[in-house]
Amino acid sequence: MTLDYMSGFGNEFATEALPGALPEGRNNPQKCAYGLYSEQLSGTPFTAPKAENARSWLYRIRPSVLHMREFQSIDRPRWKSPPAPEKMALSLAPYRWNALPLPEMPTSFIEGISTITLAGDARGQSGMAAHVYVMNKSMEAEYFVNAEAEMLLVPERGRLRLHTELGILEIEPLEICVLPRGVIFRVECLDDAARGYICENYGARFTLPERGPIGANGLANPRDFKYPVAAFEDEEAPSRIEMKWGGQFHTAEIGHSPLDVVAWHGNYAPVKYDLRHFSPMGAILFDHPDPSIFTMLTAPTTELGTANVDFAIFPPRWLVGEDTFRPPWYHRNIMSEFMGLIEGRYDAKEQGFVPGGMSLHTMMLPHGPDAFGFDKATNSDLAPEKLDDTMAFMFETRLPQQVTEFAAALPGRQKNYINCWDGLEKRFDGTFEGKK
Ligand SMILES: [Fe+2]
Repeated sequence: MTLDYMSGFGNEFATEALPGALPEGRNNPQKCAYGLYSEQLSGTPFTAPKAENARSWLYRIRPSVLHMREFQSIDRPRWKSPPAPEKMALSLAPYRWNALPLPEMPTSFIEGISTITLAGDARGQSGMAAHVYVMNKSMEAEYFVNAEAEMLLVPERGRLRLHTELGILEIEPLEICVLPRGVIFRVECLDDAARGYICENYGARFTLPERGPIGANGLANPRDFKYPVAAFEDEEAPSRIEMKWGGQFHTAEIGHSPLDVVAWHGNYAPVKYDLRHFSPMGAILFDHPDPSIFTMLTAPTTELGTANVDFAIFPPRWLVGEDTFRPPWYHRNIMSEFMGLIEGRYDAKEQGFVPGGMSLHTMMLPHGPDAFGFDKATNSDLAPEKLDDTMAFMFETRLPQQVTEFAAALPGRQKNYINCWDGLEKRFDGTFEGKK
């Protein structure tokens, strides 16, 4: 199946799966073509400034009031929402985990979501949660809608087909997608199994970072973002829809598919992006810039330069700095950093940080290259070097991230992670080695 996409970050799109389904020149005419209902889906308050205002008009077989009613609450014990419990699941430390095992029992995307870290407050609409999904089963006649968070999906293994109200997206490792709040979807597993990461963003929507002196091009370029064309299901069959709202899960039985949007126009829709299109910037003479230079998407707050969440990626790139400690430097950070690895290895930690694995360096906890990485960086020949076979990423938030009980108890948690810095010996002896 080859899918069509429309390009351009945040553009105003118009798409119809049947000719003439989209009304011309008005949003809600007295009668829509094909007997469709018109409905607006707002992703920002009506009065949000023009640059941020996001909404789409949907022309659908049934209004969504017929898709979402008579909810019953259900439990999803592994999918948590902030605030984190006051009592921490683990004593304070940097943490690292191996990849979660793939499921042995049939597991859908929603069933396979487990929360690793929590920050902020879902009901207060700030902060984020970092999750991992493992799955081996498609959602059939099962639909999901997240009312309180935008979901950023970062596949590490296996391809997914996302059937959404606004059309179909396929993603594979090295691609990501953003599912906006309130958009109904189901996930089809296109391989034997799949695994990846999710950032649930409770704050302002992800957007492209400002580029400042970089100028009009580089990093993630708007034209590389792909939006689905309209596609609909006209199916009468017992189905189930589930909504996440208030950190809780609510389910309703319906007699049809809710993915019944025949045409839509607007700027509020799911979107995908191929990380291989990211044009990285970096030092071309000396020093190592702040990792913010790798920001692909940012969810801002009203405090300038202080993100609710930044999504940064660390793609293949050339290292050319002269007289420079080239790996990410030692640092402490007011933000808190959840990292994952999609493929290859990460230059600050060549061992122990594995694809599908993750690490957490929360607010003000020191970190940096391990002893092996330090020795290599300080003694190697500084010829230009290409870092290949790598794609790491970071969910970085201004709020402290706390691990869940589930993540604390994972057998794959590397209890000796802190020891990776053990070999960093005291090198100071008062003897001056340089020129006076
Ligand atoms: Fe860091």
